[in-house]
Amino acid sequence: MDLCIIGSGYVGLVSGACFAEVGHHVICVDNDPRKLTALKSGQIPIYEPGLEDLVKRNVAAHRLHFTGSIGEAVEKSQVVFIAVPTPPQPDGSVDLSYIERVAREIAGVLKPGEYRVVVDKSTVPVKTGDNVTDTIKRYAKPGVEFDVVSNPEFLREGCAVADLMKPDRVVVGSNSDRALNLMKKIYEPFMAPIIVTDVNSAELIKHAANSFLALKISYANALSAICEASGADIEKVVDGIGSDKRIGRHFLNAGLGYGGSCFPKDIAAFIAIADQLGRPFTLLKEVQRINREQKERFIQKMRDALWILRDKKIAVWGLTFKPDTDDVRSSVAIDLVNDLCREGAHVTAYDPKGMEKAVEFKLIPASVKLAKSPLEAVDGAEALVLATEWREFKEVDLTAIKARMHTPLVFDGRNLFDPATMKELGFNYRCIGRPAMETR
Ligand code: UGA
Repeated sequence: MDLCIIGSGYVGLVSGACFAEVGHHVICVDNDPRKLTALKSGQIPIYEPGLEDLVKRNVAAHRLHFTGSIGEAVEKSQVVFIAVPTPPQPDGSVDLSYIERVAREIAGVLKPGEYRVVVDKSTVPVKTGDNVTDTIKRYAKPGVEFDVVSNPEFLREGCAVADLMKPDRVVVGSNSDRALNLMKKIYEPFMAPIIVTDVNSAELIKHAANSFLALKISYANALSAICEASGADIEKVVDGIGSDKRIGRHFLNAGLGYGGSCFPKDIAAFIAIADQLGRPFTLLKEVQRINREQKERFIQKMRDALWILRDKKIAVWGLTFKPDTDDVRSSVAIDLVNDLCREGAHVTAYDPKGMEKAVEFKLIPASVKLAKSPLEAVDGAEALVLATEWREFKEVDLTAIKARMHTPLVFDGRNLFDPATMKELGFNYRCIGRPAMETR
């Protein structure tokens, strides 16, 4: 089929490449000329495992194209996906102005007699589809035929290509059979169950899914505080409850809290949506509070061990919001670095992929030194903080790390290491929801 995707960010680019991979003809649209030039020459602006190969292969096969022109893309496509950003506003509600602008532009290029399906893939508040429909009707020529569909995306950064190629489910919210049939054809090659709903329900599913996942993480984080206070072990507790199929073990890993460009934004948005609908979702406010507190308790643990953080040499491993991505947006690791610097600590950071963007977007203070390796980062450090669980950190030679540190004190914010091994190696080891290992 002939498709276009307006917005070539994470969701748009990965979706476009995966649609092309299964044989569709895809035009990805973006209004950033630098990004377009890079993409056309095979350069990928984000780090996402497998994406570069996928893009290059499909560009070479002439199934994936890039353009700056919405008009050209819409003219050549039966189905038009919208995948533009929906950033948060200061009160947590969603800024829908990019969606509105794109809807107006699509309206301007639709031709009477040529049916188009306009699919919203961006994460949007419930009822946005109605507003997109009204907007297109308001600005399009009379007699234009179109339907608006909601098709939320559930990919995770770091494994986006795999998530898209083999989705658990595809959600399609459509109030028209004609549009639904085209959507089914697009997704047929992915061989995934298709959940068909009305447009409003599909929109709600996305915010409800992300909020539920954040709730699960916060549940584990709140439990980790109880484990610390009682001497229980969070890993054993979550294994114990997660083996109940009704609960499931996924997304019960306690740590420094969730971050990234989705969960914090989407939970705030869902709270705002519920407020606007006159049904406040106070449970989600508690999720936010637990998430904030998790990082604050961690820093308190550091103060308990180091007393005063001012002038302490601290190594931080990890800046991205999770492993296997270069995304540093709303990263708890970045917040932690800023908190430590505010308290006067001398921070040296290392991240396999995130340092460039952390510097480019000025997300960390200029005083933070950046190391070329995990080993260099700990040179002379009085403490090491593990903030993101990259595999590289799991594989380091801990004996060499200990030898380079001034004091062998490790704060593991992601429970990456085994406490008994750390003790055996002579570290003072503090982690999340598991007893500390002292070697005095
Ligand atoms: C999340 C959802 O998982 C996707 O399904 C969704 O499509 C996406 O948001 C989106 O809305 O676009 P993502 O933000 O890429 O995906 O990453 P996750 O793997 O969900 O991790 C989010 C945060 O939760 C990370 O900071 C991670 O460290 C944290 N996390 C995750 C935990 O602290 N514990 C866990 O058990 C799992």
